[in-house]
Amino acid sequence: MRDDVKEVLFSEEKIKEKVCELGKIITKDYVGKDLIVIGVLKGANIFLSDLIRNIDIPVTVDFIDVSSYGASTESSGVVKINKDLDFSIENKNILIIEDIIDTGLTLKYLLKNLKSRKPKSMKICTLLDKPERRKVDIKVDYIGFKIPDEFIVGYGIDYAEKYRNLPFVGSLKEEVYS
Ligand code: PRP
Ligand code: MN
Ligand code: MG
Repeated sequence: MRDDVKEVLFSEEKIKEKVCELGKIITKDYVGKDLIVIGVLKGANIFLSDLIRNIDIPVTVDFIDVSSYGASTESSGVVKINKDLDFSIENKNILIIEDIIDTGLTLKYLLKNLKSRKPKSMKICTLLDKPERRKVDIKVDYIGFKIPDEFIVGYGIDYAEKYRNLPFVGSLKEEVYS
């Protein structure tokens, strides 16, 4: 699996530092408030698991599983809910957790969908942001790292459902995906 990696972009250590930093900021911003943390499956699973252990206030954890129809390497904007939230978010503060924001189409759909359920507040936290690829404008509240338009995997992020279990974020060798 590691033979397919071209370059390590963010090491385990570097990710850990950033996750700790984000956790502290989120703790400060939500202290004294209720908070539902919502992971977008499957990619956000690993980031969420590490992040919530760095948030030092009570949180409720929920997951939503969405997938986009169409080409597998790029989202089409047509999103299907495979697993919905377990809890009501009405009048709750919610924080949506993503591993990566690329075109922004997945989140655009999610924001619209979740907003209709009338949360008290809604914010977004992503580990990685690829602003160059954005097709729709999205305000992201917490960003770990901004990255250039490169094919990346690891720390939850897959290519064809593989590489999610790499402990770092790395780029893939071209021959693997071409
Ligand atoms: C990936 C990633 C984000 C989304 C970002 O998920 O985890 O959720 O794509 O792309 P976008 O900004 O262009 O919409 P994917 O749909 O591949 O599902 P996965 O999390 O199960 O891998
Ligand atoms: Mn995802
Ligand atoms: Mg994917």
